[in-house]
Amino acid sequence: MQNKATLLNILLAIIIVVLVYQLSTGKSETPTPPKVHRAINYERDSISSEKKSIGPKGHIHPKPAVVIGSYGKDGKPNIMTAAWAGVVNSVPMSIGVSIRPSRLSYENIMATKAFTINVPSAQFVAHMDYAGNISGYDEDKFQKLGLTAVKGDFTNAPYIKEFPIVIECEVTETIDLGSHVQFIGKVIDTKVDLAYIDDENQIDMSMINPIIYGGEYYYGYGQRLGKPWDIGKRFKDDAYPTFEPKLYNNPTLATIHNRKSVRHFTSQQVNQQQLTELVRAGMAAPTAVNKQPWAFVAINERSKLDELSEILPYAKMLKQATGAIVVCGDMSRALDGVAKEYWIQDCSAATQNILLAAESMGLGAVWTGVHPISDREVLVKKVLKLPEHFTVLNVIPVGYPTGEDQPKDKWDENKLHWNTYTEIQ
Ligand SMILES: Cc1cc2nc3c(=O)[nH]c(=O)nc-3n(C[C@H](O)[C@H](O)[C@H](O)COP(=O)(O)O)c2cc1C
Repeated sequence: MQNKATLLNILLAIIIVVLVYQLSTGKSETPTPPKVHRAINYERDSISSEKKSIGPKGHIHPKPAVVIGSYGKDGKPNIMTAAWAGVVNSVPMSIGVSIRPSRLSYENIMATKAFTINVPSAQFVAHMDYAGNISGYDEDKFQKLGLTAVKGDFTNAPYIKEFPIVIECEVTETIDLGSHVQFIGKVIDTKVDLAYIDDENQIDMSMINPIIYGGEYYYGYGQRLGKPWDIGKRFKDDAYPTFEPKLYNNPTLATIHNRKSVRHFTSQQVNQQQLTELVRAGMAAPTAVNKQPWAFVAINERSKLDELSEILPYAKMLKQATGAIVVCGDMSRALDGVAKEYWIQDCSAATQNILLAAESMGLGAVWTGVHPISDREVLVKKVLKLPEHFTVLNVIPVGYPTGEDQPKDKWDENKLHWNTYTEIQ
């Protein structure tokens, strides 16, 4: 009996030791659920799951914007842009492309039973757009765009030498779908520029930066590249694109270098969600000792925008803007003593975040200064009913840009000094 009790005591002691060990090492039988990273939610709690029905639209995204190559009966190479294109089978690897019978490309492909798919990188956005605006019936597009037509190695279709990926296809089927005829092309060969492919034939898509056809805009790897039926005007003598950004593969650099002070706005309204998003970007800025000594007043009432435009001599564009954000320093949150002045850097960093966020969202904004001009400050405080301990750094008019304002190139290598200052001779 006593032996049994001793055995039970020993067993109990072993269980306690094991439990204590598991607790101290963090191991336990029940696995702790993995932490959900907030970024998965995009930090966008405002996204709604409610849907609006808009009828039978082809909103599969992302949509490609590829260029189809074909030869005419006379052997003349032609190209046209197509968004209604995609992989439709694996074995044999097949691609479908739908083309209206009115296109020269349709006539060509019907005759030769071959075509190429040419995947453009972002730098060819204007070429691609132009090829989708002008018919080969009217112009030699290869010549006009300065592109080189190369005869396919395996098919009777030309490919574009300058584009990073080209695919040779042989037509196996044509399907009349209504407005378009779909050509099913069996892929005979795919070629990729050596610059974009590794030894295992893996393609670096971020380097190629392919183009997404997104309705109102073409998009690249995180950047708006131009507008359909617009950017191709770069090749016209009598017209210019209304939106022609500097292109970067890195979307952050694209936003930084395309930001400009926008002073001309269309009548399109910015909404509350957009203004909230801008302020959210502002509040992501760094601040001294993480004091966040700021407050933001978002303005979406016409009368308030007009009132501010009356009192601020350098913010007349508020008359056109459809929104504004006023960046204020909250002195009750600022540091003490001489460090109090850090509120200016803090609120300036928030302002720059707002300007960059606006650019990245397709909006325009401009920093109009208030502090340290005290007359202006007094007036803005009165109009916005701001408390005594607030200081107004600036007013940022926001709206949809007309396209008139362009970024400046401010790079000056003479202002960069390495390791120590050196006087430029
Ligand atoms: C982004 C974009 C996508 C297009 N997608 C298609 C398409 O999928 N099918 C089509 O028939 N036309 C499409 N087009 C229109 C043709 O590319 C355009 O009519 C072209 O001028 C025809 O050229 P072609 O007559 O030389 O063949 C598209 C145009 C653009 C700009």
